[in-house]
Amino acid sequence: MKVQPFRFENVGQLCEASAQLGMELPYQADSKVLGTPIKIGDKTVKNRILIQPIEGFDSNADGSPSERSVARYCEMARNGAGAIWIESVSVNEEGRSNGAQLWITRENVGSFEKMNQAIQQAGDGDVYTILQLTHSGRYSNPHGTPRPVCAFHSESIPKENERIITDEELEALEEDYVEAILLAQQAGFDAVDVRACHGYLINELFAAVNRPGRYGGSFENRVRMLLNIIDKAKSRCSIVIGVRLNMYDGVPYPDGWGVDHEDPTKMDLEEPLKLVRLLNARGVRLLNVSNGIGAYSPFVIRPYDTGGLEPFEPQLAGINRMLTCARLAKQNAPDMIVVGSALTWLREFGPGVAAAAIEKGWYDIAGFGRQALAYPEFSRDILSGDGMRRSRCCVTCCGCTNMIKKQGKMLRCVMREKLSKN
Ligand SMILES: Cc1cc2nc3c(=O)[nH]c(=O)nc-3n(C[C@H](O)[C@H](O)[C@H](O)COP(=O)(O)O)c2cc1C
Repeated sequence: MKVQPFRFENVGQLCEASAQLGMELPYQADSKVLGTPIKIGDKTVKNRILIQPIEGFDSNADGSPSERSVARYCEMARNGAGAIWIESVSVNEEGRSNGAQLWITRENVGSFEKMNQAIQQAGDGDVYTILQLTHSGRYSNPHGTPRPVCAFHSESIPKENERIITDEELEALEEDYVEAILLAQQAGFDAVDVRACHGYLINELFAAVNRPGRYGGSFENRVRMLLNIIDKAKSRCSIVIGVRLNMYDGVPYPDGWGVDHEDPTKMDLEEPLKLVRLLNARGVRLLNVSNGIGAYSPFVIRPYDTGGLEPFEPQLAGINRMLTCARLAKQNAPDMIVVGSALTWLREFGPGVAAAAIEKGWYDIAGFGRQALAYPEFSRDILSGDGMRRSRCCVTCCGCTNMIKKQGKMLRCVMREKLSKN
């Protein structure tokens, strides 16, 4: 089956298309399980609808959230989502992906605290908030000109003016992460995410097989930075530590992680699952599974109909891969709360797929990304039992991504704006 726009009128057609690819798409009409609570550590999350991180490009110059950033999250909280995984927040200035990316500092931590309070107020005091912490690495661009900070030189994703970060700098950067984790705790968030996905620095290190020194070569060296940060943070903070983890990135070996060495369209999950087990053993209780690299395999992260790089596979193959990764992660780390991803392309059938995956024990919480931007009331419609309306669903046109990444403008959903004008 080739890449086709979403044309399914009923779920039978959707499952049939998946079966033609040799994959079982789980589905159940009753999605009530999404309204049931779940515990993460000591805290109960009121339902299983989680808003996935979507970078807004609308921070203030000092990295603090603007009124617009806060309003985006309050809208999601008002509509009933149990958890919000707040977009990537840089741990230092050099690692910002752009001058309007959030960046947490000792000076502006108060503004993050206020944002969390506003979210709680909007969500009846009961929203689980996770702050995603990152260094953009190869995609760093703090002042309007790319300043790639790379783990290694990649033939697959070459960068002009790349700088290979030294072992000493990586060690110092671990301290920046721990400092940011302490600040997130001070600001009152429930959890932090040490972001290890989508080709950003920590994730890129996983593929640094040809890098010399302490952070390259062996598996232990390549995952060192992530594990060091977790160990150091655990000895100094009490906040729940989560990880958004790429298990496969779709980039040819040796530059890719979780890929078959001969065929980068296929997975080899031996190392990613080993890492999942190590995270579990270290007490990481929250795992948000993802795949793909924005600049190389965006269709793997977020299957779409139009507007992005040419996919090497049908959208359902990416969705099934995401389900497989979450299922295997959960099997390898039953103590972890696992969040599933890439539900938006499925339109109004997304909740039924997520509900079936939860009932089967494949994962625990359903994460929705673009849907929350296009159709903010989607969580209310799921929870009320009315179901999502096709006319309001995200059309997966990549408009939001192109707005921020190509045009450098604040995040918007143009389709939603068109609908509200009619
Ligand atoms: C415009 C845009 C910005 C994103 N920003 C982030 C981010 O900051 N951190 C992250 O982990 N994922 C980010 N993602 C990926 C989403 O969290 C999510 O994994 C992806 O959209 C697939 O989920 P969906 O099919 O429900 O949209 C972004 C996606 C989009 C479209």
